[in-house]
Amino acid sequence: MLKTHDIKLIQDADLRGKTVLVRVDHNVVKKGIIHDPYRIDATIGTLYHINAKGGKIILMSHVGRPRNKKTGDIDISFETSVQPIVDYLQSKLHITIKVPDFYQHEKKGFLGIETSINHLIRELKEDKINAVYLPNTRWFMGEEGSEIEMDRFAHQLAGLADIYVNDAFGSWQAHASTVGVAKYLPSYAGYLMQKEIANLERIYNPQNPFVAVVAGSKFDTKIDSLYTLLKEADYLILGGVIYNAYLCAKYGFKIKGISEEDMQHAKKFVKYASGFKGKLIELPYIVESDTLDGKLEGKHRIHNIYKLPSGHELNYVLDVAAESFEEQDVLHVFNSAKTIFVNAVMGFTPHFNEGTIALDQLIDDNREAIKLYGGGDTMQELKRLLPGLYIVALDSPKYYIFTGGGAVLKAIQEKTFMGLEPVKALRKS
Ligand code: 3PG
Ligand code: MG
Repeated sequence: MLKTHDIKLIQDADLRGKTVLVRVDHNVVKKGIIHDPYRIDATIGTLYHINAKGGKIILMSHVGRPRNKKTGDIDISFETSVQPIVDYLQSKLHITIKVPDFYQHEKKGFLGIETSINHLIRELKEDKINAVYLPNTRWFMGEEGSEIEMDRFAHQLAGLADIYVNDAFGSWQAHASTVGVAKYLPSYAGYLMQKEIANLERIYNPQNPFVAVVAGSKFDTKIDSLYTLLKEADYLILGGVIYNAYLCAKYGFKIKGISEEDMQHAKKFVKYASGFKGKLIELPYIVESDTLDGKLEGKHRIHNIYKLPSGHELNYVLDVAAESFEEQDVLHVFNSAKTIFVNAVMGFTPHFNEGTIALDQLIDDNREAIKLYGGGDTMQELKRLLPGLYIVALDSPKYYIFTGGGAVLKAIQEKTFMGLEPVKALRKS
């Protein structure tokens, strides 16, 4: 399938004796701790393949957002270090991985790759170590710097290896390590990249009925994909702040904490959605609360707010209530679906969980449907709230859990993955 898109695949590369620079998305470290290694585990097939075919592995990933957008300063500290990932891989795979020490940096990050890396590459070639893991790509000024800086860094990266493999589907931003380097090396899509693209096809050409559930804490990052989903899906269901803003715009509720910006987006969206009668399924019960802290002694937490009169003033709305998923029309939509896409944490975490739990359980009840989960938070909450279901989902052919969130939404919004810059770079290479 991918061949027709002129992307070279890792299985077609001659890797024997070659040094292979692999861009992964191991962006799973928060404050030095790995919360969920799923994204790391998902790349192990590619690493195993390279090793089995006699390739020498140099890994790289970004971690977090160490660059201050306003000043351009880069914070090089343990919080965004790749070290926890390296520790995880070493103990899981019983291999030795070394991270080069670089010293030359200023406020704007590491100046570039230092020649001190050469002795590690020698150790790699002599099989004294199993892999090199570069420091966080976003610690380098060239990763997302000016065009000249990016190109210089891409060149330096290319100088380290014979072949470039991109297995970082989630890292859709056009940076030196995701796009730039593909210009200078024969470049291939890794197995995870291929798998994610193949599963996107199941969204582009779904078995119908196709239901999409999208929730989030802000309208603006998801709004464009919502327009597309309203057109392409049979049903769309909203949750989170997005849904609150929608309710305010449509019914004139006043809900605490909705930004003016979200309201503007919501108003436009409501107008647009009125052209798609019956597609947007409104979950009727929401959880109102005066506290973001969940069930506390002496604090009230109201349930069962159903078809409120227009103009009603509400406190915070922090979840959809589980009762929403017992309504006949909602049940019908989920039970008859053949494809379900979920990018949704319904409630305000960590205390408001009933909406997400009810949603995920109802989706699981439909044994026939293909269930596609996207987004780091969506996955993390599934794991936290329904660990048993999460474990089943990892291996079930009826489920696919994307490693990318933003990347999936962008690919949905554009109705093709070919617009993603790293994919374009692979095609050109
Ligand atoms: C993610 O975690 O969403 C991806 O790794 C992309 O990270 P970014 O949004 O900081 O580019
Ligand atoms: Mg993200």
